[in-house]
Amino acid sequence: MPTTVLSNIGTLVTNDPALGEGPLGIRRTAALVIDGGHVAWVGDSAAAPAADAGVDLDGRAVLPGFVESHAHLVFAGDRAEEFTARMAGRPYGAGGIRTTIEATRAASDEQLTVNARRLLDESLRAGSTTVECKSGYGQTVADELRSVQIAARCTDEVTLLAAHVTPPEYAGRADDYVTMVCEEMIPRCAPYARWIDVFCEQGAFDRDQARAVLTAGIAHGLVPRVHGNQLHQGPGVRLAVELGAASVDHVSRVNRADIDALAGGDTVATLLPGADFCTRNSYPDARALLDAGVTVALGADCNPGTSYTTSLPFCIALAVRELRMTPDEAVSAATAGGAAALRRTDIGALSPGFRADVIALDAPSHLHLAYRPGVPLISRVWRDGVLVV
Ligand code: NIG
Ligand code: FE
Repeated sequence: MPTTVLSNIGTLVTNDPALGEGPLGIRRTAALVIDGGHVAWVGDSAAAPAADAGVDLDGRAVLPGFVESHAHLVFAGDRAEEFTARMAGRPYGAGGIRTTIEATRAASDEQLTVNARRLLDESLRAGSTTVECKSGYGQTVADELRSVQIAARCTDEVTLLAAHVTPPEYAGRADDYVTMVCEEMIPRCAPYARWIDVFCEQGAFDRDQARAVLTAGIAHGLVPRVHGNQLHQGPGVRLAVELGAASVDHVSRVNRADIDALAGGDTVATLLPGADFCTRNSYPDARALLDAGVTVALGADCNPGTSYTTSLPFCIALAVRELRMTPDEAVSAATAGGAAALRRTDIGALSPGFRADVIALDAPSHLHLAYRPGVPLISRVWRDGVLVV
């Protein structure tokens, strides 16, 4: 594979403190060499080695590609009317998920695949070079199986969201649904997934039900992650830490004991401010989490109910404005934080040896991601060293 040098980078975020200033390892007037899908060299633009091809970035900022660690891309239909009613005052409840379950069950494999790929392309154009993808809108063995199979054709980061909400045929029988998930669904679907997820929330699944699902997933080789503490305080965060989950996601309603548990464990807190924005929920207390030393990731949580956006730049802007994260913290959470949430050590930074997942902005620094909300600043994207946008 030919080598490529990216030169005249205005601000380079490496996420490697050994390569530059501060925790983001920032360098100015930098260059970066890509070789065979990996970063081969980082340094001053004037000292860049010769390469087969060159791209003069003319002062643009360069960052690691965003790592989207929370996305629901396998579904059919939308819920624009539910969103509109919510903006007029109707509260969000987990029941809306059943609307999408009905549409997803009625859709063909091809329709689901086309929709997932459309959203994946949209994510890529917004700078996400790795995207996790959950099932969760089937909630039968057959519909979850095809959901994880479709997701597995889109990404290596497939999550079986086996227990999202009790489906209508199990109304009033959530325990029976959980038994079916543990005994039938997880054994059938686990070969296509890396992660097991559950929605631990009032109106979805309680602590014991969530624990049963996650434990069954672990027994089939899956690693847990949890939707927890989105709408109410509850057991999700502490259950995630107790089971050694890679991440607990939402974390919008927590108490001191939850924060202390996260600080004492190695579960990443993945904040999804797009969902709080679109449901008028309270935003997470990111400052308390960060100040306690918790590793924080940012995700867009693309789904048709609570957050129909694929844009991590939008979430970075929300994280800075509404969650009071600094622009550096927000950019770190959308890159290195996402990689930590997916337990990946090959992405999320631009040190030599890391995958050449790289984005260039139509802006001189990463600060502009929060400073210029709503402006499509992603000008070029390389994935595995190949220019794809
Ligand atoms: O991450 N919280 C649970 N799941 C999704 C929402 C699902 C839906 O409303 O369709 C979320 O917000
Ligand atoms: Fe979600």
